[in-house]
Amino acid sequence: AFDIGKLRDQTGYVTLDSGYKNTGATKSAITFLDGEEGILRYRGYPIEQLAEKSNFLEVAYLLIYGELPTTEQLNAFAGTITKHTLVHEDIRKIFDGFPSAIHPMAILSSLTCVLTGFYPESLDPNQSTEELDLTIVRLMAKMSTIAAWTYKNSMGHPLNYPRNDLDYCANFLYMMFSFPTEKYEINPVVVSALNKLLILHADHEQNCSTSTVRLVGSANASLYGSVSAGINALWGPLHGGANQEVIEMLEAIEKDGGDTSKFIAKAKDKNDPFRLMGFGHRVYKNFDPRAKIIKVAADEVLQALGMQDSPLLKIAQELEQAALTNQYFIDRKLYPNVDFYSGIIYKALGIPTEMFTVMFALGRLPGWIAQWKEMRENKEPIGRPRQIYVGATERDYVAIGERA
Ligand code: ACO
Repeated sequence: AFDIGKLRDQTGYVTLDSGYKNTGATKSAITFLDGEEGILRYRGYPIEQLAEKSNFLEVAYLLIYGELPTTEQLNAFAGTITKHTLVHEDIRKIFDGFPSAIHPMAILSSLTCVLTGFYPESLDPNQSTEELDLTIVRLMAKMSTIAAWTYKNSMGHPLNYPRNDLDYCANFLYMMFSFPTEKYEINPVVVSALNKLLILHADHEQNCSTSTVRLVGSANASLYGSVSAGINALWGPLHGGANQEVIEMLEAIEKDGGDTSKFIAKAKDKNDPFRLMGFGHRVYKNFDPRAKIIKVAADEVLQALGMQDSPLLKIAQELEQAALTNQYFIDRKLYPNVDFYSGIIYKALGIPTEMFTVMFALGRLPGWIAQWKEMRENKEPIGRPRQIYVGATERDYVAIGERA
């Protein structure tokens, strides 16, 4: 529901819709989402087909350029990204200046913005198509290196330089987990799971971070600056932080003895602020199509890694069963969302919880780029919402000595 209030100084009306629950901010041809039916499509292609048959870079191309690439186009896109994964040595040196306990999202957003200093042509709102393509490729390429380096930095480990003989996901895993003293074996099941996770997170129409990217970009801000703002929006616990909270909740249940019914009861208790993390969604009211895919992927990964007896997975499965058969959750249409299982996979891959939001950002990057590019191509005006003023009416200035 939204109120309609009259602006005092205007003849027209302004609609007030806090949280933009019913307000469309733009027309978009990128992602179709039907929350009632549980449908998600990128450029018309069902998410189920893309997750099963495609890979992350192909989906990135689809989102950014509107069509599935030919072999030639995909090879050129992926090849150019590979060529640009190396980041400037001066960016590596910036790592030395960060405190060791800094959150990886702070590094990611700062260094994404810092790219404007190394590629100042990205600041030009009138970049040619070729120049913009290079700006895009640089961002896709360098963000994976910077993301992996935030983890290495947090561990105090030496940073790994990217390897051009590996594809995007394998190279990311190599940069995350390889040591000069120990060769990292690339496991194809892990690579496939990472591809799926990134694909499932690649776009979700006008969510908070994407709207941020579009709004900042509408001021003709650079792609790097706009995406940096989006990263900060995603960092908020109400947006990208939920998968971390799911794992923390499962660990708390395990530590407490593993009785899931106790936590179901807590979630139902209206005097207890506890909520079952990973359940419910603002838009999906019957099921989250991404959760169905990720649940199967989680089973596959844990099986392949010999972790099928993981206590966290057992607790997650019990919790899901208990919630799905409980009248409270049925009445409120609360189903597991994508974050319920993504954290379990990330954990199984050895990715620490404070890196989960960074992984989300890596996946969401093509969506941010596609939405920023669409906004520019459509020549959308600068975003500038109105307000309903509810402050004091006109009054005279009172000298400081005469104030009560
Ligand atoms: N556990 C217990 N009860 C819940 C939960 C939950 N996870 N989610 C909603 N409810 C209850 C509410 O208490 C409310 O009950 P009431 O009608 O008796 O008052 C009812 O369900 C409706 O809840 P709202 O908060 O109004 O639903 P909304 O659509 O605004 O919120 C949200 C959706 C924020 C996702 C919510 O379900 C939630 O907090 N879930 C847990 C956090 C989470 O998993 N977030 C990730 C979302 S997915 C993503 O961002 C990628």
